[in-house]
Amino acid sequence: MSIGRFSWVSGLYFVGLAGQVLAQSKPGLPDPLVRSNGQRVTTAREWQRVRRPELIELFTSQVYGRSPGKPVGMTFQVFDTDATALGGKATRKQVAIYINGKPDGPRIDVLLYLPNRVRRPVPAIVGLNFWGNHSISTDPGIRLATSYLEAGKNNPYVDLDCVTDNRATEACRGINARQWPLDSILDRGYALVTAYREDMASDVPATRFSTGVHRAYPDWQNRPDNFGTITAWAWGLSRIMDYMQIDRAIDGKRVAVFGWSRLGKAALWAGVTDERFAAVLSNESGSGGAKLFRRGQGESIRRLCTVFPHWYSTNLRQYMDKDTLLPFDQHEVIALLAPRPVYIASAEEDKGADPIGEFESAKAASVVYKLFGRDGLPTPTIPPLNTSVQGTIGYHLRTGGHDVTNLDWRYFLQFLDTHFKKK
Ligand code: GCU
Repeated sequence: MSIGRFSWVSGLYFVGLAGQVLAQSKPGLPDPLVRSNGQRVTTAREWQRVRRPELIELFTSQVYGRSPGKPVGMTFQVFDTDATALGGKATRKQVAIYINGKPDGPRIDVLLYLPNRVRRPVPAIVGLNFWGNHSISTDPGIRLATSYLEAGKNNPYVDLDCVTDNRATEACRGINARQWPLDSILDRGYALVTAYREDMASDVPATRFSTGVHRAYPDWQNRPDNFGTITAWAWGLSRIMDYMQIDRAIDGKRVAVFGWSRLGKAALWAGVTDERFAAVLSNESGSGGAKLFRRGQGESIRRLCTVFPHWYSTNLRQYMDKDTLLPFDQHEVIALLAPRPVYIASAEEDKGADPIGEFESAKAASVVYKLFGRDGLPTPTIPPLNTSVQGTIGYHLRTGGHDVTNLDWRYFLQFLDTHFKKK
């Protein structure tokens, strides 16, 4: 029996999607342009009106989980403005987002650096950080994060010796500044906007769904399409976007969302679910991000769902050990960003993220860009190491391991200059 492009394989691979049976019958990647009823999408309009919503619903229900809308009672409080920050280079602003308008409810601290001496409004890059707003710069004016902060001596990216009782201390300032080249970003005329992942949602399985914005949505977890951590981060990015739309120093139509690794997974999903993000920069987002599952390389669905049970929807567990048989795949997530610019970056030694799988995924998303008359990824073969290829989809594979380096940023900024400044 066959339903659209899916066929029944003796009950082996079916999962519930609004009563549909999903079982992949063909080898090769699912074609993003084929609707669930088997019909082919041939115009950008049809993609936008029919296929895009269908795919978003599929990824929402089966992979990422569902998120609430914009909170009605949300308020913003600008609690800091300093026009002489970073030696006069920038204006620092800090804004508390109160999700339900209550000071004792969930609070997300947003840190903004706006370049001085340039014409405003400016384009912006917004990205979540791993270790607190205070970690991206030694600037003493940044409010220390008050949310949980992991401790430990062996983190390869930061020295967390500064952490006491899982809280930041003064000594934690700038511990991750290496990954945030603020000067270059500001010199190029971009604002940098960031917030701490733990302000939004717990990244610790033991406290999952009990901190951050989840506190405002207790009923959203006991369902198969629950509001998990990755989705909560993406949703939180949209709340920051809500603020950026009213801050007149920022051009709300030129905001790129950036993320590395798990935060890159969230950045991609934020770009999909919120079309106000004009571009997406995904650095080594890997499994559940840019990489294809279908290749069966790198981190598997089983690992994602067991080591990080709080990240995705409960429904995703139905696909454990079926990576190579999925009836959908992550190139369709990238395709959902079309026709907006998206940059996918990989690192050679980052095997868990399967660099080839990230490249192939970007390539396979291009058909949808072409539907819009855009070029997608303008190369069929992976570019030489440390070189960048840039169409409406950009890509590079750099030497080294899982990290964010100056080379990554150099290409991200070049890509944004092309797409944001030539307008
Ligand atoms: C782990 C995880 C990855 C994730 C990474 C990170 O390695 O397996 O999926 O991207 O952490 O966020 O640093």
